[in-house]
Amino acid sequence: MELEGATALVTGSASGIGAEVVELLHGAGARVAGLDVNETTSNVELSIICDVSEEREVVSAVARVHEAFGTVGVAVLNAGIGGFGALVDMPTHEWDRVMSVNLRGTFLCLREVSKHMVSAGRGGTICAVTSISGFLADRMMGHYSVSKAGVAEMVRVAARELGPFGIRVNAVAPGTTDTPMFATARRLPGYEERVAERAALGGLGSSRAVAEAIVAVLELEWVTGQVLAADGGVSLWSPIDPAESLSG
Ligand code: NAI
Repeated sequence: MELEGATALVTGSASGIGAEVVELLHGAGARVAGLDVNETTSNVELSIICDVSEEREVVSAVARVHEAFGTVGVAVLNAGIGGFGALVDMPTHEWDRVMSVNLRGTFLCLREVSKHMVSAGRGGTICAVTSISGFLADRMMGHYSVSKAGVAEMVRVAARELGPFGIRVNAVAPGTTDTPMFATARRLPGYEERVAERAALGGLGSSRAVAEAIVAVLELEWVTGQVLAADGGVSLWSPIDPAESLSG
């Protein structure tokens, strides 16, 4: 996929990983539209205020991008929110809040974007942003983890359904990444240090490093239905690693 002159749509484009993806795509010569609940202030040709969990807003925003650009060849479905709470006493509204943005929002954007890609008949490349929490089992993040596991499965099914139209669908699963979303977890005592220590490459991820993984995945011509962890190897950590007992 040639990014120079490509037309791209990025959700959650106003902050963190999404803003970095926008900058990289813009730098590569793509025309970029950003969809976010907040204004996207740089590197976009079109900034559309859109809540990805609201069907009418998504339908109209994607149509606007299509109208402005003529076609959409690249999509990054990145908008997401976090939350904390044990399943045993999680209020239904908190479950719904996270699901509606992370799972329903990703679905609505995938559906609308791919509909336009199919009717344009020129193929395309889509990358969703899931999380390593979608395949680990962190306590206090059950709704977030389930939403991200759902996105990973959505990507696999969509890859099969859309492959015949020349549309590739993949996902990147970041580990802990230094963005505004991480601000809450950062306040947990010792959390940041523990994550950094357990990452094979050491430290937290930067939004630039994760954005680079997303752009790389967008460009891979013979890869579809895959979830790539961009986590510095933190998800490789094992609680039964014998070497843990010997350290020190
Ligand atoms: P962020 O909070 O910096 O950026 C998220 C963006 O999504 C913001 O601009 C926000 O306004 C937008 N957004 C939130 N709800 C929206 C909605 N309903 N409709 C449209 N836009 C909405 O967070 P970050 O870290 O850049 O997150 C990006 C993605 O990466 C998310 O899907 C997140 O779950 C995922 N991720 C982040 C990790 C981290 O440690 N920061 C780890 C693993 C995954």
